[in-house]
Amino acid sequence: MEFSLQHRLMIACAVARDAGALQKRRFLDRETMIYKFKGPQDYLTATDGEVEKLVRTRLLEAFPEDTFLGEEDGGQVSDCTWVVDPIDGTSNFARGIPYFCVSIAFVLRGKAVLGVIYQPMSDELYSAATGQGATLNGEPIKTSNTTQLDKSLIEVGRASRQPQEAYLGMLDKVMRSGAGIRGAGSGALAIANVATGRVDACFENHMYAWDCLAGLVLVEEAGGRVSDFLAGDGLLKGNQILAAAPGMADEISSLLGVPLLPAK
Ligand code: IPD
Ligand code: CA
Ligand code: CA
Repeated sequence: MEFSLQHRLMIACAVARDAGALQKRRFLDRETMIYKFKGPQDYLTATDGEVEKLVRTRLLEAFPEDTFLGEEDGGQVSDCTWVVDPIDGTSNFARGIPYFCVSIAFVLRGKAVLGVIYQPMSDELYSAATGQGATLNGEPIKTSNTTQLDKSLIEVGRASRQPQEAYLGMLDKVMRSGAGIRGAGSGALAIANVATGRVDACFENHMYAWDCLAGLVLVEEAGGRVSDFLAGDGLLKGNQILAAAPGMADEISSLLGVPLLPAK
């Protein structure tokens, strides 16, 4: 069958909505919510695996030739790979904070070309495909017009696997620049927030591909700049990530010492 990115985008949006509906049902059923820890401050609920299974089954049913890489059950990479975080923001999900999402990306021959993120509690569906722009619930989105760090709002994250010193050093630099800081517990939504202009940039020392690839496609398609996450072994091992509105991209890039890809 002929390759179609458009068909993949349509199916990914439908699957994201269904995955989000399942997240929402489980989230609202607080009585049965049990969580454990995979590592320090690394939450896991039964819903993570349940949602990943739903997404994997639906995507591979629609595209049996593609491969699937998920946070919980792993998988294989190929020239056509789906990369999925079944719940990004699991700490929020587990603790009763209604701020989490499902994140679905598609990587074609080493390039992330499709990103879909669905936040069920606010019913917000973000989607983008290379060359086609980015939308939120069907309406085009774009990054902010902010040009000055001291007027900016920057979302930063830290996974417990990252060294505390590197995180505190970065925080110190960002705060001295006069930027406002946010950190709301979902890396995927933090990057989506750059795409809509709700924040001006987002940085984390290390993320995995399932956390960030969908968001990075959104930001590029919304006119922003992103770091080269897939350089080296980013798809399998993760990398640092920086995403920024174009007017302050060079400044934040040199402040943090993180190179950005040229504007598209
Ligand atoms: C985490 C969240 C968090 C970010 C971490 C991620 P999870 O993903 O996105 O905001 O700081 O790097 O690992 O565990 O909620 O899927
Ligand atoms: Ca994640
Ligand atoms: Ca997750």
